[in-house]
Amino acid sequence: MNQSISPDTGGCNEARVLLVDDEPMVLEGLRRCVYKEFVADLANSPEEGLAKLRKNGPYPVVVSDMSMPGMDGAEFLATVRTISPDSIRVMLTGLSDVEAAMRAVNEGQIFRFLTKPVTRKTLLATLHACVAQYHAARFEKDQLKIAINALEQLDLGTLTAFARAIDAKSAWTAGHSERVTSLALQIGQAMGLPAESLEIMQRGGLLHDIGKIGTPAAVLDKPGSLDPEEMQIMRDHVKVGVRILEPVPCFREALPMVAQHHEWFDGSGYPAGLAGENISLHARILALADCYDALVSDRPYRRGLPTQQALELLIQRSGTQFDPMVIEVFKRLAATGQLV
Ligand SMILES: [Fe+2]
Repeated sequence: MNQSISPDTGGCNEARVLLVDDEPMVLEGLRRCVYKEFVADLANSPEEGLAKLRKNGPYPVVVSDMSMPGMDGAEFLATVRTISPDSIRVMLTGLSDVEAAMRAVNEGQIFRFLTKPVTRKTLLATLHACVAQYHAARFEKDQLKIAINALEQLDLGTLTAFARAIDAKSAWTAGHSERVTSLALQIGQAMGLPAESLEIMQRGGLLHDIGKIGTPAAVLDKPGSLDPEEMQIMRDHVKVGVRILEPVPCFREALPMVAQHHEWFDGSGYPAGLAGENISLHARILALADCYDALVSDRPYRRGLPTQQALELLIQRSGTQFDPMVIEVFKRLAATGQLV
């Protein structure tokens, strides 16, 4: 009696229903009612139903008898909800357990309940309504997913475009923000930072120098050392960057990278003179990546240093300009030839 049509052979995955009843005759009767319009999978116990759900799910619709030995229908459908939250759940009850079924409806967000004996017409109409409900919910979820993905993509694209606009201001900084970001992410990954943290670092890294939009090219490209006034103008790119990004909610967590990437570990950096762990870890990582890229790149007043020499310079500044912990990770990446 326990016939089932495999979802793999049914070829109609979106109209599959799981029917659960401990009485084989009832189960077979249900299957006969629906087989022309739905692919029915049968289970004659809640345990078997859960096993099928795990193996072949998700089913758009799960129909369960209320009164079964062991786990009753309410408990079964509550478990279905945790395993397969999108499945629409229907309770089938005898007249004697309507009260229990009503409670299950109220507590378990069951879409419908049907009383036995159920007519073919009512059963089919219910199942069609359930499938429609399932697809409507799925459609909404899919749309939301698409919208979020699009926003994320757009965001990264926009950020990269911004980064290029910042770097394009000076011929000497082409590609700087993207290289620094990639290096900072490499360090972050080697430190085992979680994905959310790396995502913040990507935002902050790409736009860490956005304040340079307000720095005159004559200062940015000056071939020689800056006088005190020019130095102040250069340093102001940090404050300008913070002012630009402050109103953007999705930058809240990346803002410390912009604000603190010129702070020194010993407290002698700018603009706030923060020290040690008062500087965000993201900013401590970024500071190292930023400086490394500046050292190995050509500048108006000097050629870029060979990587080994740049590395040695950074190591000399461990504990003063840079966090020794970040330096150690960077050294390890360099020693194993992993630096991009
Ligand atoms: Fe900077």
